[in-house]
Amino acid sequence: MIGIFDSGSGGLTVMRAIRDRLPSSDILYFGDIKNAPYGSRSREELSVLTVQAIKYLQDQGAGSLVSACNSVSASLAVSLFDAFSIAPQSLIEMVGPTVAYFRNSKARILLCATPATIQSGIYQNAFLMVGQKIETVALPNLAGAIEFGAPADEIEGNIRQAFENISHDSFDVLILACTHYPLAMESFQKVLGTGKAIFDPATVVAERVERQFWPREAGDSKTRFVISKDSDAFRGLVSRLFPDTTCTIEVIE
Ligand code: DGL
Repeated sequence: MIGIFDSGSGGLTVMRAIRDRLPSSDILYFGDIKNAPYGSRSREELSVLTVQAIKYLQDQGAGSLVSACNSVSASLAVSLFDAFSIAPQSLIEMVGPTVAYFRNSKARILLCATPATIQSGIYQNAFLMVGQKIETVALPNLAGAIEFGAPADEIEGNIRQAFENISHDSFDVLILACTHYPLAMESFQKVLGTGKAIFDPATVVAERVERQFWPREAGDSKTRFVISKDSDAFRGLVSRLFPDTTCTIEVIE
């Protein structure tokens, strides 16, 4: 079984891409809505939440793991792999596949993410290792607004404010390095103009999942969602993104 986790709904965008590639795998999704948003939390808090999520998924029988949350990427340290007996090939996160995709690109990259992701420096450092210097912009309130179903004008206002002092000519591609942001794709396009390249890493992460987990994760298409707090917005999104899927949504308090 593949276990996927995020602070809430954002990881559903990654799960959608994984489902498209692996229709028969058994998937358990955990959304930690009680503790969302993660992006404004400290490194210490995120480490604790990461361990809890991984432990929960392992206890439920997930042998292959996907961290569909950029904000916890800095917490996915070698020590964690060791402590929880995670084989290096059994956990896929967002940073590696994204940086690998742009490795030989000449595009000027602007990366937007939560404050936790930007402050961790994980993307800046990873891109430096492949010889690229990227620009970054943090969006402090956007993931929370998306998670809790804020109206479109508030979401757009959030994005507009963050891009106020950034010249649209200063970058070629915008990477959405928060899994919640593709849910606001239309607002990003409105603010940046439809001609701008906006990259959602979900597709390259799903490719990596297929390469690493298939055929080990051939299953019976079982789909289970578990959330740490009930949410109409989450339930609505599951129906929208997985309309033909027979699934259960459980709330664990
Ligand atoms: N979707 C997560 C990420 O990719 C977390 C966002 C949040 O909860 O702030 O960073």
